[in-house]
Amino acid sequence: MQNSAFGIDLGTGNIKIYNNMDGTILNQKNMIAVMNKTNLFAYGDEAFEMYEKAPSNIRISYPLTYGVIADIKDMQEVLKCFITDLTASSKYSGGDFYISVPKDITEVEKRAFYDLVKDSNVKAKKIMIVEKAIADGLGLDIDVKNSQGVMVVDVGFDTSEISILSLGGIVLSKLIKVGGRKFDSAIQAAVRKEFNLMIGGKTAEKVKIDLSNKETSGEPAVVYGRDIVTGLPVERQIPTEIIDAALNENIASIVENIKVILERTPPELAADIYRHGIYLTGGSAHLKNLDVLINKGTNLRVNLAENSQESVANGLARIIQDDNFKSLAYSLEGMTAKGTGLK
Ligand SMILES: Nc1ncnc2c1ncn2[C@@H]1O[C@H](COP(=O)(O)OP(=O)(O)OP(=O)(O)O)[C@@H](O)[C@H]1O
Ligand SMILES: [Mg+2]
Repeated sequence: MQNSAFGIDLGTGNIKIYNNMDGTILNQKNMIAVMNKTNLFAYGDEAFEMYEKAPSNIRISYPLTYGVIADIKDMQEVLKCFITDLTASSKYSGGDFYISVPKDITEVEKRAFYDLVKDSNVKAKKIMIVEKAIADGLGLDIDVKNSQGVMVVDVGFDTSEISILSLGGIVLSKLIKVGGRKFDSAIQAAVRKEFNLMIGGKTAEKVKIDLSNKETSGEPAVVYGRDIVTGLPVERQIPTEIIDAALNENIASIVENIKVILERTPPELAADIYRHGIYLTGGSAHLKNLDVLINKGTNLRVNLAENSQESVANGLARIIQDDNFKSLAYSLEGMTAKGTGLK
């Protein structure tokens, strides 16, 4: 019988779990709602539904911040709930867990991902770590084991990770604190400044996503919010130019960081990078004009991933399915406290 195995991409905005028993990827908000400080009230998309609307005795939060675990107890709870849901209909007696982590975090922060799975009551038989950019590359069908120079840019919710891969490893990587959440707050700030209008984060996100939608792009966004002066709820039309301008600064910061990494890349790898172009992925990869502005700033072709939000989970799936890729995952088991920097 086939062993249960899960590939988990713990994003700051969304958790994606590949389940090898049915080949599906669960993709839900990485959120938790807790009532009266202790009682689990909701998790995932259901918790997000209540976000910005709940009374004060319900705390709704993201357990991850900037790519690292901010609240381990909350994160364990969310993980346990999802794994329980995924295994409810089968005789689950434990499984292997492949978990992706950013490269540019400390050993202690990496170790926390391992401990999270170990201590979550999910019956982990084996816990393997995969660098997120490697999983991204595999998920995009790149031959990461043999290529000598691949640039992957994953623009997510709290972070963007810019990495250079070569021969199955990561040569350079930088995690920056720019992503979908910053784009949303930039839109909120611009609408407030230009129209004296307060809008919620979910409204801002919808405006942003509509921008990249071909059918609605170019048309002004219709938003509902609260007028700061009168205090009353109103409807307003926001021209796309204002939104474009609001996003520029954050996009420029991503482009600048890509250039810094390119400048630091050993010249021997440059030929492959030039030939392949840049691979742009992550949920925010489809932000309007992001690919165009990266291309303008670097003179490199930009390959925009289609199913960009799930490329890490798809890469983890390939590692689980194909033994040829197993060497791209590693274990933290048996690592000494010294090796991890833990006391
Ligand atoms: N069409 C779109 N245009 C712009 N942004 C989008 C689009 N679709 C989704 N997004 C954004 O993608 C983001 C989520 O992406 P993703 O799931 O890759 O992040 P994450 O993995 O949770 O975060 P991180 O990798 O930073 O930890 C959200 O901010 C969402 O608004
Ligand atoms: Mg991500």
